[in-house]
Amino acid sequence: MNAPASSCAAPIGIFDSGLGGLSVLRAVRAQLPAERLIYVADSRYAPYGKRDDDFIADRTLAICEWLVAQGAKALVVACNTATAQSIALVRERLAVPLVGVEPGIKPAAALSKSRVAGVLATEVTLRSARFQALVERHAADLRVLCQPGHGLVEAVERCDVDSPALVELLRGYVQPMLDAGADTLVLGCTHYPFLDAAIRSIVGERMTLVDTSVAIARQLERVLDQHGLRAYPADDVGSTTARFCSTSDGAHLRTLAAALLGIEAQVECVSIPSPRTREPEANAA
Ligand code: DGL
Repeated sequence: MNAPASSCAAPIGIFDSGLGGLSVLRAVRAQLPAERLIYVADSRYAPYGKRDDDFIADRTLAICEWLVAQGAKALVVACNTATAQSIALVRERLAVPLVGVEPGIKPAAALSKSRVAGVLATEVTLRSARFQALVERHAADLRVLCQPGHGLVEAVERCDVDSPALVELLRGYVQPMLDAGADTLVLGCTHYPFLDAAIRSIVGERMTLVDTSVAIARQLERVLDQHGLRAYPADDVGSTTARFCSTSDGAHLRTLAAALLGIEAQVECVSIPSPRTREPEANAA
């Protein structure tokens, strides 16, 4: 699937149910500074972790198609939940190079000395066949403690990354892992790297936190190279430019982009209809 040279200047589409994918965007910007990016936060329908499988597939496909229609040369599904549930479907339907994300079970298995690791992820991710296969493949000799992170995506979506109530919620999730001897914690949702400091305030240096965003950026770099699609500064594509889009009002995306990426983002409010959300207000709640 080699592309004409002009495609190198086309943007990369990155999408998440909400703001979590900004942790991936941050790593992509650092790894591939010459690339133009379009980010979509589907905040109107977040969290996906509470949705049924068909809904997640419906939104994932619609947003990927929308990004391709915007001219994206490659896509990053920067959402563990959407990847676990729907990436196979997107690969089937769209010919564009695609990178997904998955919980860092493999690095955790390499890092853990106690051979006990915790995984925080959404319930949808944890119950997916894809996650089960990942554990079977890479963690045969590792005790994996799976904990759904109920309430954490919602907290990040309202830009709460350090309130006392959030720290207490997190403590309820990670203290049992510490008590069971876990020395490694997999952040299996792209929202959770933003809770890094809050988690550290509980676990101190007793746990290694596994965040795969840098690995995802490297994987994207490999995929772009394989397809001859990488932009270089000489391509004059407008280095570090990013377009930020939200299916909600965009205020939180703007706040988090400023706090986390240090950029004053102009957020476009976009409407991306999908079969399940065709009547916008009726199905949003
Ligand atoms: N950032 C998404 C993930 O990595 C959050 C999913 C959700 O919206 O529940 O899974």
